[in-house]
Amino acid sequence: MSYKLDLSDLDRGAATSVTQQLVDLISSAIDDGTLPPGEKLPPTRDLAADAGVNHLTAARVYRRLAERGYVTASVGRGTFVRQVPPSSASDELDDDWQLAILPERRTSPAAEALMDSFRITHGRRDVISLAAGFPSPDLAPAAELARITAKVFDEVGRDALDYIDSEGLPELREELARRGAAAGFASEPEELLVVSGARQGIDLVTRALLRPGDVAVVESPTFVGALASLQQSGARVLGVGIDERGFDVPALERILARHEVKLVVLQTASQNPTGRDLSDERAERLARLARERSFFVLEDGVYATIRFDSAEPQRLRRRAPGHVIYVDSLSKTVGGGLRIGWIAARGPALARLTAMKMDDDMFTATLNQHIAARYLASDEHERQLARGVPHYRARRDALLRALDRHLAEDGRWLEPVGGHHVWVTLRRPIDDRTLWLEALREGVAFTPGSATMVEPGPRTSLRLSFSMLPPERLEEGVRRLARALRAAHRVDRRRASAPLS
Ligand SMILES: Cc1ncc(COP(=O)(O)O)c(C=O)c1O
Repeated sequence: MSYKLDLSDLDRGAATSVTQQLVDLISSAIDDGTLPPGEKLPPTRDLAADAGVNHLTAARVYRRLAERGYVTASVGRGTFVRQVPPSSASDELDDDWQLAILPERRTSPAAEALMDSFRITHGRRDVISLAAGFPSPDLAPAAELARITAKVFDEVGRDALDYIDSEGLPELREELARRGAAAGFASEPEELLVVSGARQGIDLVTRALLRPGDVAVVESPTFVGALASLQQSGARVLGVGIDERGFDVPALERILARHEVKLVVLQTASQNPTGRDLSDERAERLARLARERSFFVLEDGVYATIRFDSAEPQRLRRRAPGHVIYVDSLSKTVGGGLRIGWIAARGPALARLTAMKMDDDMFTATLNQHIAARYLASDEHERQLARGVPHYRARRDALLRALDRHLAEDGRWLEPVGGHHVWVTLRRPIDDRTLWLEALREGVAFTPGSATMVEPGPRTSLRLSFSMLPPERLEEGVRRLARALRAAHRVDRRRASAPLS
């Protein structure tokens, strides 16, 4: 900065303090444009050295400038001349001024890649999308829900449109507790907080428990939304791999030997994207570790009831109900548009989460809670789950057969026991952006594995979702993917042999 500001005029004998002189000097330089908007100011240490003042004086100078709106400070990045929004002549044409006002948003290349894949494939009938793991449209219980909705208005009338408590509708919490007692995620309605989808549940938990600098551990690969919430929290996020017995608990123990871990995040059944369960032995070990080392576990069970050949496993929370916070929803079995999710927890953590739910959106839509409560009280949900078993199993098998036929030489995969996805790892690594672009050219989309991982490993992986496509489309999708892979390898070879310019 010293090349832009002349500090030689500071008058140590003057009536005006040196602090004030520095404030005036820097603010005039900002006013006359010598220091333009966005310019980074030197660290306080350097300002102190250049001006011959102590470090506290330099810090005070920046504080005063910030109070007057001349500069903004951002932890870890430094102090900057405030961006002055350009005035826009016409309100209709130019919204660029907003960029100067909007605070910075932390995002990851992985999340951006995923958003791209939804944006680009949305509404394109020529592209077979193996990227979205939503419930099969063929199973949507629309007629049943229409009937239940009419019944709700018949029975409770305008109460269905009322404000209610943040915890959620008592009838729904009771239904959820009944299921929780059988599956092991809750034992009484008071443990349940209704939220707007599991996504909100995950976000509330990470915001309630983590502060910048805390250490959190997450299964990797995982649900991209869990990664986004963890990254937004500012915590240091460490990844732990998954094998055929699920989350690698021995790897977690090695991390615990070196770090004070506050939160461990995982799905214990039909995991997205590997489709595997946490083994009994590992679940026991994880529950014991949580108790011994006093950390929270966020257990996500959104795919736990989608099974192909075995019953849904007991949830981890049964083994350590004070340490495990459970999230789940009806999004994967009924429909994501309902936005009915829940958290099961207890103690001060539950009180904190309830208060945050209140701050966020007060409560989850009353009408949808009435519908969900009646739907769960009937045996409609059991029928819905039963319909899903052969439906999704046939689609999983069709995808596995297509992989055997077209990609056996190029990759390997774990057979999912539940859920909507197959996790494919390629034998030869390839840039997944190149593969993704070639795939789109061939008319197929997938989720790049790197979008689901804390740190992309040396191998290339793909998440392929089968839930929304009939068997013949899955076969065609994998055929296109195999062609795209060959094309991507050709691009890679051409790049490798191109002379450096
Ligand atoms: C593992 C996992 N957890 C949570 C969610 C979010 O679920 P919801 O739609 O209920 O917010 C998803 C959605 O894809 C998911 O895959």
